[in-house]
Order: sequence, then C-alpha cells, then structure tokens
Amino acid sequence: MQPIGVFDSGYGGLTVLKEITAKLPQYDYVYLGDNARAPYGTRSFESVYRYTLECVQWFFKMNCPLVILACNTASAKALRTIQQNDLPKIDPEKRVLGVIRPTTEIIGKFSKTNNVGILATNGTVQSESYLVEINKFFPDVNVFQQACPMWVPLIENNEQNSSGADYFVKEYIDSLMEKSNQIDTVLLACTHYPLIKEKITKYLPSGISIISQGEIVAKSLDDYLKHHPKIESKCSKNGKIDFYTTDSTEDFDNHAAVFYGKPVTSKHAEI
Ligand code: DGL
Repeated sequence: MQPIGVFDSGYGGLTVLKEITAKLPQYDYVYLGDNARAPYGTRSFESVYRYTLECVQWFFKMNCPLVILACNTASAKALRTIQQNDLPKIDPEKRVLGVIRPTTEIIGKFSKTNNVGILATNGTVQSESYLVEINKFFPDVNVFQQACPMWVPLIENNEQNSSGADYFVKEYIDSLMEKSNQIDTVLLACTHYPLIKEKITKYLPSGISIISQGEIVAKSLDDYLKHHPKIESKCSKNGKIDFYTTDSTEDFDNHAAVFYGKPVTSKHAEI
C-alpha cells in the first residue's frame, strides 16, 4: 500500500478529499485530521509549521509517496519550508503539495472586474500567501482579504445552521464588501467554509461567484499525476480510504460525515 496522504488540521480537508476521491477513485488514500491540535488558524507560524511537519512525517511512515496539505493555513504557513528545507533531508523522492497554488493559478479567470475577495482564517490572511501568489499569475487582479476567525469554531461545533452563524457570516461578508464594491468573485480559502456556502450566498450581493477549492484541487491533482508518471506509478490503486485522527475517534466519526457526505470510521494516530 502506497496511499496518497490528505492532511488537514481537523475535519475541513474532508471536503477536499470528497472531491479528490470522486475524481480519482482508483487510488488509495489515507486522511489525517490533527483534531487534537486544531484549530490551526489562530496559531503562530512556528506552531503550524511544527505540527504540519510532524504530521507529514507520520504520512511518510504510513508509506505515502505524495501528501496533499488540504488545509489553507498549513499550506500558507508550512508548505514552502517543508518543500525547500525538510524534504531534501527527509526523503527527496517524496512530494508534498498544497491547496493555494492550484487555486491561485486559476482564480483570476473567474473575475470580470479583476476584483477578487478572499475569505480565510487569520493565519492564512496574515501570511499574505494569496496576495503574493495571485499577483504572480494575475498581476492585474486586486485582492481583498477578510479574516473570518469565528467561522471554523462555529462549524467545528456544529453551529453552522444557527442564528449565531448568520450573525458572524453577515458581519464578515459586510466587512469584505466594504473594502470594495467591485468584487465579483469570492474564494472560500478555508476548507471548512463550503459548509456555510448557503449562508455566504445569502449575505453576499447577488451575482457574485463563490468559488470552493475541492474540485479545483482534485483537478489539479489529476493533472499533476498525469505530468509526473514516476510519482503516479508509486501510488497504489485499490480504491481504499483510511481515516485517522489525532483526537477521539468517536468524536471524529460523529462529526466527519457532515464534511465528507457519508459515514466515516476512523482510527487513532499517535503523533
Ligand atoms: N482547515 C483550515 C484551513 O483550511 C482551517 C481550520 C483551522 O483553523 O484549523 O485553513
């Protein structure tokens, strides 16, 4: 077994895994949610980097030739250092990819006004990764960021349908739209946010496109595997998916179906 690793700080990456497995069902996957240390969005660079590296090393012990960081915060704060400094020392044959690059490569194509809004965690916003990366691919696009620190806790606590969620969705959407009324495309740059897409739609002015990352990341992984046959040939193909959490498996299994769309049975991972 040489599964593809899919990582998130908690449950959010399951929204990405769902799209990846729908597009590429033939591969084996192992999902790890670092629920014991989530959320990552409010943590320092140093902590997110250290936690993410520990989880990447766990994936390598699980025999994964390729790991996807399906977490924007980890992609923003840890991916580059892991790729440039750690991988050459740990195992230059292994690959670790994130979710920011595939999204920023195409986001400009969705906007007619060249004004894009980014909704993300504090950590992702502060890293400025989206500003830097979008500017590389679409220098004419203006990027407006809005940190939404209350959304992940609301979703993690299953409060996404409550009136409290309405309050905080409206607050952050209003704050984003105050930055520019020219925004015509909004990116959900956090893997949890697809769960509140309906509420986000409700509070955004009509006609604005809302982009989630799952399908974009799945398509990008498909392209990557086609262009990297050496890595592709290492990935085993039995259509098997294993779920792991660093916290309680009972909590994970009770919660995960909301994100993944079907029941999940997890095992505990000791990191
Ligand atoms: N999954 C993380 C992301 O996509 C957000 C959750 C967290 O703060 O840990 O940014």
